[in-house]
Order: sequence, then C-alpha cells, then structure tokens
Amino acid sequence: MESGSWTTAASLLLSALLSVCLCAVDPAQIDPLVFEEQLLWVSGAQGHVNTYRIPLITFTPKGSLLAIAEGRKSTSGDVGAKFIAVRRSTDKGDTWSPTAFIVDDGSFPDGLNLGSVVVDEEAGSVILIYTICFHLYHCSPASTMMVESWDDGLSWSQPRNLSVQLGVKAFAPGPGFGIQKRLRPAKGRLVVCGHGTIEGDGVFCILSDDHGETWYNGAALKSIPYNQPKKAQDFNPDECQPVEMPDGSIMINVRNQNNYHCRCRIVVRSLDGGVTLPVDELFFDYKLIDPVVAAGALQKDGVLYFTNPSDDKKRINLTLRWSLTDGKSWEEKAVQIWPGPSGYSCLTTLNSGSVEDRKYIYVIYEKGHKDIIETISFVKIHLYGGR
Ligand SMILES: *[C@@H]1O[C@H](CO)[C@@H](O)[C@H](O)[C@H]1NC(C)=O
Ligand SMILES: *[C@@H]1O[C@H](CO)[C@@H](O)[C@H](O)[C@H]1NC(C)=O
Repeated sequence: MESGSWTTAASLLLSALLSVCLCAVDPAQIDPLVFEEQLLWVSGAQGHVNTYRIPLITFTPKGSLLAIAEGRKSTSGDVGAKFIAVRRSTDKGDTWSPTAFIVDDGSFPDGLNLGSVVVDEEAGSVILIYTICFHLYHCSPASTMMVESWDDGLSWSQPRNLSVQLGVKAFAPGPGFGIQKRLRPAKGRLVVCGHGTIEGDGVFCILSDDHGETWYNGAALKSIPYNQPKKAQDFNPDECQPVEMPDGSIMINVRNQNNYHCRCRIVVRSLDGGVTLPVDELFFDYKLIDPVVAAGALQKDGVLYFTNPSDDKKRINLTLRWSLTDGKSWEEKAVQIWPGPSGYSCLTTLNSGSVEDRKYIYVIYEKGHKDIIETISFVKIHLYGGR
C-alpha cells in the first residue's frame, strides 16, 4: 500500500514534469515497455469454470477498462455451455473488480462464443455482441446476440437477438473490438466485423447507424470456394480485428485460416465505412507471420499497433509490433511480451487525450507455460520506455 501510493505520487510528479514535452507526441520516440502485468483469470481455479478463453479488452466512455472473456463451464473446447466473465478497472489497470458473470447460457450444448465489444461514445454505452449455436451442434439456427451497458460496465441488459434483423446466417463477431466511426465517411456508425461458418467462411461486417437499435449486413469478403468444403491453402479469411485509420478508412487485420499465399496475416480495407471490402484493397502482410490465430490491432495517435504469437506454426512468442506508416511497414524493433505459449490477444487504450492516457496501451492475451489455455493476462504497455 505504502509503496503503491509512493509510486502513484512519483508517477504523478513525473507526468507533470513530462507533460510539456509529451504534448506533441513524436512517433519516432515510441519505445514500448511492459510496465505491469497481471493474471486476470486462471483456468480451473475459480468456481464453475473449467477454462477461460477468448479475452477482449475495451475502454469505456467514462475512462474505465473492461476485461471480458468466455468462462467455459466443463471443457476447454469451443462448443459447450459458458458464462461471459467481466472484470472492471477504474484506475487504468492497477486494480480490478472481482469477476461478474454477465451472461449464463445454462447447459446449452453449443453455447455462446465471444465476441466483439464496441463503445458508442456518442451515446455513452458499451455493447457486446456474441453468437450462440455457432457450430450448429445439437441446435439450429445460429443467433447473433447483443447485451448493452449504460453504466460503465456495472450492469448489462437482457440479451437481444439480432438475427431477427440480420437473418440467421452464422456470424462469429471478432473476437476483439468493433468500432464507432470517429471520422468520415459514416461518422458515428457502429461497425462490427467477424467471420462466417466453416464452409461459408469469410469476413462479414454488421453495421448500425442508430446506436445499436437496428443492425444491417454490410461488407463481405467471402472465402473461395464459398459455401463449399475447403482444402489446405484455399482462400479462407476468418477471425478479424477492424481499426479506423487516420484517413477514415477501416483496416481489417484477418486470420488467414488455410494459409492461402503465405503463413501471414491478410489485410483488407473498407473505404466506405464498412459497406464494401474490395479485393483491390487487399494485401498479404509478409512481415506479420502468424500461426493461424486471432490477433490484436489498434490505432492510436497515428501509430498502428499489432499483437500476435509471432511464429509461423506455433502459438508462442506473443509480440507487439508498431507501424509509423499506417501498416505499410513495421518498425524493425519489436517487443516480446511472452516467449512461451500464447494465443488470442486484444488491445485497447484510454483516449481522454490527457498526457497520462497518451502514454499507454493495454493488452489482454491467452498465456501459459505448457498450453495457451492456462491463464488470461493483462499487460499495461508504456509507449515511451517508461519515461
Ligand atoms: C433469433 O432469431 C432468429 C430469427 O428470427 C430465430 O430463428 C432464432 O431461433 C432466434 N434465436 C433465439 C436464441 O431466440
Ligand atoms: C519472437 O518474436 C521476435 C520478434 O519478432 C523474434 O525476433 C524472435 O525471433 C521470435 N522468437 C521465436 C522463438 O520465435
């Protein structure tokens, strides 16, 4: 406690001293440092949960952080009954609330799967979109569901079935965050991207122009051959993370499920606010080698950040990279967050514009010693080497 308040006092003093020179952020000074790391969930150690997986992290309209994960009740597999677990931090990740289970799918054979969290900064709400019965295992059809919080993630609405508006095509959002467009075109629009069923795979985005009241189907980047069984190396875009770029385009970083063309990430852009994903805007990012996994991406103050287990075959070596050229190139220096088993990851940042908030980004990822499913870890990254 004592040393904690000393640290806080010291860092407040430090940021006061530094506020002058950090007002204009110089991207060339970026030198990320793992500043703090905490395990938020440990599989097998808490209550009625066998395994925690699929971590998401988001800021809230009031400047809190929410960590969200699937609590898989009886197995580590994707199918089966689950909770949605949430922890909340009101002090920039230093301390976290106990776990709250905000959705419980009972004993559903093919329960819920996360998911995309999207903050509506204009309306002041946090929306979480997930799917149930995605694998059509002893159930049909798949449904896209939404819950919403109006009080900074403390309480959540009853689930709403968005398939009534969208149709029953299986859609697995994210995993990661959705975006609210801050820039034109389509300022204010909510854009949530995800992927389809195994055969009918591809990247699909759902859109809302009225703060999540009504949703409609937007862009699609379909797999080839679409709606047919796939072979190794077929074109099969899968789990994805959209980010809004400084020019208002949406860049989506995509899992390359069947290693089409490379063992690396697919990147595709939408220039019209998520309505289309033209093939002209697609490329393969050879620098971002990938073992076929869900990865994290974030755009902050003109710098693009990316996390994944940086290995072309195994889920190990969680690595943070950054680009000063909107993803056209990556800095040679990269930061290894964890050398061992590491899986899905997600990034966020607080964006009050304060000097303090400009200095940090936050990572959540699957971390283990023998296997990625052992823990969910939270990492606070100082972007300027702790200075
Ligand atoms: C959601 O709505 C769709 C379309 O009306 C329906 O087929 C499906 O059964 C609903 N899902 C749930 C869980 O109620
Ligand atoms: C882990 O990633 C870093 C950064 O890309 C790379 O330099 C290093 O060789 C990787 N280590 C392993 C064991 O793959």
